Amino acid sequence: MGTLTNKRILLGVTGGIAAYKSADTVRRLREAGAEVRVVMTAGAAEFITALTLQAVSGHPVHQQLLDTGAEAGMGHIELARWADAVLVAPASANFMARLAQGRADDLLSAVCLATESPVAVAPAMNQQMWSNAATQANLATLKKNSIGIFGPAEGSQACGEVGPGRMLEPTELVALVSDLFASGELDGLTVVVTAGPTWEAVDPVRGLTNRSSGKMGYAVAEAAVEAGARVILISGPTSLPDPERAHTIRVESAQEMHDAVHAHIADADIFIGVAAVADYRPTQIAKDKIKKTQEKMTLDLERTPDILASVAALKPAPFTVGFAAETENLEQHARQKLATKNLDIVAANRVGADLGFGTDENSLLLVEPAAVTELPMQPKARLARALIAHVAARYRAKHSAKVHTLRRP
Ligand code: PMT
Repeated sequence: MGTLTNKRILLGVTGGIAAYKSADTVRRLREAGAEVRVVMTAGAAEFITALTLQAVSGHPVHQQLLDTGAEAGMGHIELARWADAVLVAPASANFMARLAQGRADDLLSAVCLATESPVAVAPAMNQQMWSNAATQANLATLKKNSIGIFGPAEGSQACGEVGPGRMLEPTELVALVSDLFASGELDGLTVVVTAGPTWEAVDPVRGLTNRSSGKMGYAVAEAAVEAGARVILISGPTSLPDPERAHTIRVESAQEMHDAVHAHIADADIFIGVAAVADYRPTQIAKDKIKKTQEKMTLDLERTPDILASVAALKPAPFTVGFAAETENLEQHARQKLATKNLDIVAANRVGADLGFGTDENSLLLVEPAAVTELPMQPKARLARALIAHVAARYRAKHSAKVHTLRRP
């Protein structure tokens, strides 16, 4: 099962007795780390109250397509863009028919039509309704349109009949939603990622550091996990929890980060240096807290080891991706780093007040010897997935090119 940490899941609830399970579905999705918003159809409101779903999701429930007050400032297009995935559970026969037709006459169907993210339905209905040729034809259309179909299960039904049409249990739905994010693009590969700032001690209580929160690096590590990689995350001091299913190693200084990277790099197929590593550190760390006895003081600094350059210089080197934090001339500076450090890709981002460091959103310019790709401003989790998809494609291309070269007679 993949992780749902930082995923935005829009749960659509339609009219059916299984709607009573929606509160549990919301709870389980949140336990798996997802942020959840709920859209209810008019039919759903006959079975469960909006208040219940608001209480368990922690957000107002969205019900009306054209009611600005009820939408609380989040219209159908914003909801469609917000969602990383849409799960409709339970999905009634009527809703499946409307989705198959591409209708957009209520909020939920409009969101499903407007989103670029994956959409899945968990059918729940009487077994005769499920088996009916019309429902089966709608099902075929939904599959053809790349809508995920979760279930249904077979068993005794609320109407007293027995057969297919029971909604899957919330725990099964959460596992299937997690799998929507599992791309398999990095199956069998090991990825080492650095993240966060470093702390260069001046004395026992003071140090040199920067504003990196670790959000970007942790998102990259999580996206690599989702893509099937074994991930080693080497993190400077952050307040973020360890990502699920990554092996996280906490370090403090640039030297410790360098040593931890080199202790694990022999196994790595891909290295991604997202950390904002200090370029300089004090030449001496005072044993005791420095007293303010002088009007002015000068700190003597020396260069820290360049972790990225040292990885790229290994023979053989892993596929090496560096980041570049720039305030100006993004592509030009990134291209310099690409050439001088002999990297495969430089992911350049503009930094400054409210840009890059500490923010929830970011954009990247991916600079390679013969290409430049722009990944526009978006939440860091989504941006990281796009970066990992790009890296995986380039890694595969580089390695299949090597295989072809070796095979040439
Ligand atoms: O953590 P967040 O708050 O989410 O912010 C994300 C970020 C802005 C920190 C991130 O997107 C980013 O830009 N990371 C790189 C920051 C940086 O130090 O850039 P740089 O241009 O100074 O360094 C270039 C590359 O060399 C980086 O890959 C860096 O990890 C690496 N480096 C730098 C110095 C050093 N001694 N060793 C290194 O490996």
